[in-house]
Amino acid sequence: MTEQLTVIVLAAGGGTRMKSKTPKVLHRIGGRSMVGHVFAAVGELEPGRVVAVIGHQRELVGPHIGECRADAVIAVQEEQLGTGHAVRIALEALTEPLGDGTVLIAYGDTPLLEGATLRDFTDAHQAAGAAVSILSGIVEDPHGYGRIVRNVDGVVEAIVEEKDATDEQRTISEINSGILAFDAAFLADAINRIGNDNANGEYYLTDAIAIARSAGLSVAAHPVDDALQTEGANDRAQLAELGREMNRRIVERWMRAGVTVMDPATTWIEAGVVLEADATILPGTQLLGATVIREDAVVGPDTTLEDCEIGRGARVVRTHGQLAVVGDEATVGPFAYLRPGTELGAKGKIGTFVETKNARIADGAKVPHLSYVGDAEIGEGANIGAGTIFANYDGVNKHRTVVGKQAKTGSNNTFVAPVEIGDGASTGGGTVVRRSVPPGALAVSAAAQRNLEGWVASHRAGTAQAQAAEAAEQPGEAAAE
Ligand code: UD1
Ligand code: CA
Repeated sequence: MTEQLTVIVLAAGGGTRMKSKTPKVLHRIGGRSMVGHVFAAVGELEPGRVVAVIGHQRELVGPHIGECRADAVIAVQEEQLGTGHAVRIALEALTEPLGDGTVLIAYGDTPLLEGATLRDFTDAHQAAGAAVSILSGIVEDPHGYGRIVRNVDGVVEAIVEEKDATDEQRTISEINSGILAFDAAFLADAINRIGNDNANGEYYLTDAIAIARSAGLSVAAHPVDDALQTEGANDRAQLAELGREMNRRIVERWMRAGVTVMDPATTWIEAGVVLEADATILPGTQLLGATVIREDAVVGPDTTLEDCEIGRGARVVRTHGQLAVVGDEATVGPFAYLRPGTELGAKGKIGTFVETKNARIADGAKVPHLSYVGDAEIGEGANIGAGTIFANYDGVNKHRTVVGKQAKTGSNNTFVAPVEIGDGASTGGGTVVRRSVPPGALAVSAAAQRNLEGWVASHRAGTAQAQAAEAAEQPGEAAAE
């Protein structure tokens, strides 16, 4: 883009219909706030300057916008006196003069908006050399929108707001999406000419169109093909609807990029997720945050992964994971809970009913069944017996357990951290490891077994258990009968 581009995002409104303590533009779909999606689209244009107009709950909206775009100029509109007033406040907040170029206006509550749409619109505006361009839309129900009024030759004359429109104008189906592009010099002049003599007593930015026309300047309206991109969410039902549509679009985009999604309707993929071609996503799966799934990995069914990285050819079944890394060709689940700091190596295994946290499980190491692995390091090729608890918490502090390479630990062990099990060591079933085990040693801690002969007959006489024991003691008699 050769011309200087300034983008103004209007986000001062209240959003009372959300009935929420959270400001409207901060409500999230697809893993980002609504205004976050708008900033992502705006960012694709690489504008020279971005101004955000905030007002309602600015103590929450302002910092959030700072996170979306650190260099955004924040303009505070104390009272919401209309879109024209909001843009005036935005221009006043600029530290340098507006100068030449283009000013693009967008709203903070249109999450489906895409960068490409803004770029095409801005390009068309600049190519036409218009003073103002309108991104319009042809809709079935234009109620509530500003109508695009064209003369007999089709030339745009004005935008008339719903409340100010004549009955005839209300039948016009071409509406103002709210996204406008201005010649900067024209806007700088026109913004001070906009009055508030209308049904709402507001300063309408849309009055700039009639101002341009009466000055003999050209105005263009470009109907958008995909009207949902400029749709705002005003209440939670609309939010969910747009959220579902966004998900539909994201899932479709990944399928077209070579990802197999068995059931798009029950698969949720947030905007920040990255999938490689030939990954497979099975029904009931949610991929959230910055999750990455590499090629040939199969995830699901019924799996939620947030900020996880799943390696090539890995298999993750019925799992809940957060901030976990799963190596190439590793297997996880069914019914695993991967908590932050889990790192499973290549060809490793975290099996059924296993919970892991802050656990580095090296290549080829396995924790197959019914275990808790917290604050642990497990060496290459080690195998942890079923039902093992890494007792990392002494009630006050957390401690680490280290299990060496190729160690094979018995079932139903407790590792009382801090403790170390050496390379190639073993432990017996039911061992409570309280002291470190040297490499190659076998640790056993259970007391020697004692069998008290006849105990059931003397303590449980007359029970089915005792009868079974008695029958087993006299097999010969039973067979002779
Ligand atoms: C506006 C347009 C209308 C268009 C419609 C599309 C005007 C006068 N009307 O109407 O032509 O069809 O959007 O949705 O521009 N805002 C501020 N400060 C204000 C007023 C509004 O920041 O003082 C922000 C709001 O937060 C919102 C956006 O501007 O994001 C639009 O405001 P809203 O009051 O919803 O305008 P509409 O009446 O819907
Ligand atoms: Ca609106």
